[in-house]
Amino acid sequence: MTEYKQDDGDGHSITYLDTDGYTTCTFGKPTEIAKRIREMTNFKCRPDDVFICAPVKSGTHWTWEIISMMFKGKAETIERSKIENMLEGSSWDLLESLPSPRVLNTHVYYSRLPEKAKELGCKMIYVLRNPKDLAVSLYNHTKGITLYNYDGKWDHFLPLFLQGRTEYNSWFEYVLEWEREMSTSPELPIHLVYYEDLKENSLLEVSRLGRFLGVDDKDGLFEAISRKCQFDNMAKDKQEYLYPCGDEETFSFYRKGDVGDWKNWFTVAQNEHFDKVYSKMMKTSKHKFRYERMKQMDNKL
Ligand code: A3P
Repeated sequence: MTEYKQDDGDGHSITYLDTDGYTTCTFGKPTEIAKRIREMTNFKCRPDDVFICAPVKSGTHWTWEIISMMFKGKAETIERSKIENMLEGSSWDLLESLPSPRVLNTHVYYSRLPEKAKELGCKMIYVLRNPKDLAVSLYNHTKGITLYNYDGKWDHFLPLFLQGRTEYNSWFEYVLEWEREMSTSPELPIHLVYYEDLKENSLLEVSRLGRFLGVDDKDGLFEAISRKCQFDNMAKDKQEYLYPCGDEETFSFYRKGDVGDWKNWFTVAQNEHFDKVYSKMMKTSKHKFRYERMKQMDNKL
């Protein structure tokens, strides 16, 4: 386990934690984080645990809030941060003390998830987002959170992302690993949510989620949750429960919440390069992102 500085090739570096080749944020507690990363496959699960699994910056806070409200049975702001329910970011004693059903979350690769979660058939919500928007979001996250100590430029951050040298290693490997698992074990209770779909048709996606989780849509609960969790509402309502890790003047976990913000950041050349890397890395994948796929949603509600 080492805390190290990832050089961006332009005189700036990001402070990360390396645990046996796996990169994460230090969360200010490197030894504890490394221990959790190493021991995560042995994490003690309960059959009714729900796991939100997503590459970092895919919309984890949003889905966590929606699902937590569903289990609460009320469209009321959850008075804590999702980071407190995060496998690598939170104390496991604290997680043990939470009442069931627990809404847990993590950004680690599928192969690093608790074995028991797979054995017990815990429900998993897999969240994906256009990787171009995700890269922009991750850049702002890395610049904004003081622990990273990073002041580099977008032009120098993007290559690191494409090379899998930012936190949680490679986005491509993450997605490919999940795809392999989902095709070899189709019986696993995994529900895929796309950030873009949740944004465009929030009620439909919230309803699909609720149906998957077996939650009753009593008295318009899903509609109320979908409204309460719109970006502007969450940005305001969650303000007092934010995990303290950045300069509040310049950083928020609720930055913009847009689809397509990447167009404001990528140059034409960067976009072409990204597409090339994407095609090469994902050549074995059948996965089609929203901007390249036909909508494959079941509308039977
Ligand atoms: P941006 O940086 O593009 O704004 P995660 O929760 O996995 O860290 O993902 C963070 C991203 O989700 C950020 O994206 C954040 O603004 C966005 N987000 C958070 N809550 C949201 C909501 N209610 N609606 C839409 N986007 C949201």
